[in-house]
Amino acid sequence: MILRRLRLADFRSYSHLTWEPSPGMNVILGANGSGKTNLLEAVALLAGLRLRPAARDRDLVREGAGSLRVDAALAGDEGGEHEVSLQLSPQARRYLLDGRATRAGAEGTPAAVAFTPDDLELVKGGPEARRRLLERDLAQVSLAYRDLLRRYGRALAQRNALLRAMGEGRAGEGELAPWDEAVATLGAGVQAFRRRVVDALSPRVAAGYRRLAGEGHRLEFAYRPCIDAAGAAEGAAGTEEELLRALRTARTLERARGHTLVGPHRDDLAFRLDGREMRAFASQGEQRSAVVCVKIALLEYLGEVRADRPLLVLDDVLSELDASRQERLLEAAKGHQAFVSSTAAPPVAEAAVVRTERGGLRAWPGDEVPGDAGASP
Ligand SMILES: Nc1ncnc2c1ncn2[C@@H]1O[C@H](COP(=O)(O)OP(=O)(O)OP(=O)(O)O)[C@@H](O)[C@H]1O
Ligand SMILES: [Mg+2]
Repeated sequence: MILRRLRLADFRSYSHLTWEPSPGMNVILGANGSGKTNLLEAVALLAGLRLRPAARDRDLVREGAGSLRVDAALAGDEGGEHEVSLQLSPQARRYLLDGRATRAGAEGTPAAVAFTPDDLELVKGGPEARRRLLERDLAQVSLAYRDLLRRYGRALAQRNALLRAMGEGRAGEGELAPWDEAVATLGAGVQAFRRRVVDALSPRVAAGYRRLAGEGHRLEFAYRPCIDAAGAAEGAAGTEEELLRALRTARTLERARGHTLVGPHRDDLAFRLDGREMRAFASQGEQRSAVVCVKIALLEYLGEVRADRPLLVLDDVLSELDASRQERLLEAAKGHQAFVSSTAAPPVAEAAVVRTERGGLRAWPGDEVPGDAGASP
C-alpha cells in the first residue's frame, strides 16, 4: 500500500500539516526534538502500530488542543483508493475506513513494520522486547489475533484480580475454575497463532542471515512458549489441556504471588547461532544482524498474508547499523514505501527528503515539499 497524502490536525507537535510523501523511500531529517518520530508515529498509527508503547491516547493530542485527527489517502497495490481517518477526543476514539467505522487491521487498511532502536534489544535484552514482537508486531498479521490477545488480556486481568482476592481471603478457590478455563482456552489460541507465524518466519530469518553473514552460518529463530513458569518447556505444544494442567500445578505459588505465572504473557523467543544461545555468545554485530533479519522476514511475510505490501517505518535505526546491514535493510525496503528518520544527512541516494522544522516540514536541500508544508509560525 502507498500513503499518498497525510493530513495531521493537533497531532503531537503538529497543529496542522499536509504531506504528500513519495511512493518510495522518504527520509525525514531534523534535529532532536523537531518532530521526526511524531510524524512516523502518525504513519504507524494508520496500521494500529504504536511506536511509543508507553503513550496513552491523550498524549497523542497536541498540548492545549482538545482532539486530534489524522487523515490519510492510500492507494492499494492492485489499484483502488482508500481514505483512513483517525479521530481522538476525550469523548471518542474513531478509526474510519472510507467513512465507515472499523478498526486498524481490517481489510483495506494498511499494515506496517516498524523498526526502532528499542528493537535492537530483541536478541540481547530481556524478554520485553521479544514480547513486543510477539504482541505488537505479530498483531499486524491478523485482526483475529488482535482480538484474541485483547480477550486473553482481559481474562488474565480477571484471574489476577481473583488470585489477589483469594490471597486476602475475599474469594474462595472454587471461583477460579472458569478463569482457568478462559486463560487456558484463549492462551492456547494465542500460542497456536504465534507458533504458526514464528514457524513461517524462521526459515526466512535463517536464509536472510546466511545472505548477510555468509553461507556457513546457521541461525535458529524459534518460539519458546511458556508452559511451566519454573523452567519453560521449549517446544511443548501449549495445548489447552497442557496450559490447564500447568495452571493447576502453579496454583499454590500463584496464590502467594497474586498473579498468573503460566501463559502466553510469559512467552519468549529463542535465537541460536550455530547451535549456541545468541544472547550469551554472539557478538553485538551478530545480534544486530539477527534483528535486521527478523524485521525483513516480517516485512516479506506481511506482504504475502495481507492484501497489500506493508509500509516500512525506520525510526533512528539506520545510523545504528553498519554499512552491510544498512545495505541489506535498504535492499529489502525496495518495493515498499518507507519512512526513515535521521538526524544526519540521508544515507540513501534515491530518496525524497524533507526536514522537520518549527512544527512543519521544509524542503531539503532546496526543492519544494509536495503538499502544503503546513508549518505554523
Ligand atoms: N502531545 C504533544 N503536544 C505537543 N508537543 C508534543 C506532544 N507530544 C510530544 N511533543 C513534543 O514533540 C517534540 C518532537 O518529538 P519527536 O519525538 O518527534 O522528536 P524527534 O525529531 O524524533 O527527536 P529525536 O531525534 O530526539 O528522536 C518533543 O519535543 C515533544 O515534547
Ligand atoms: Mg525521534
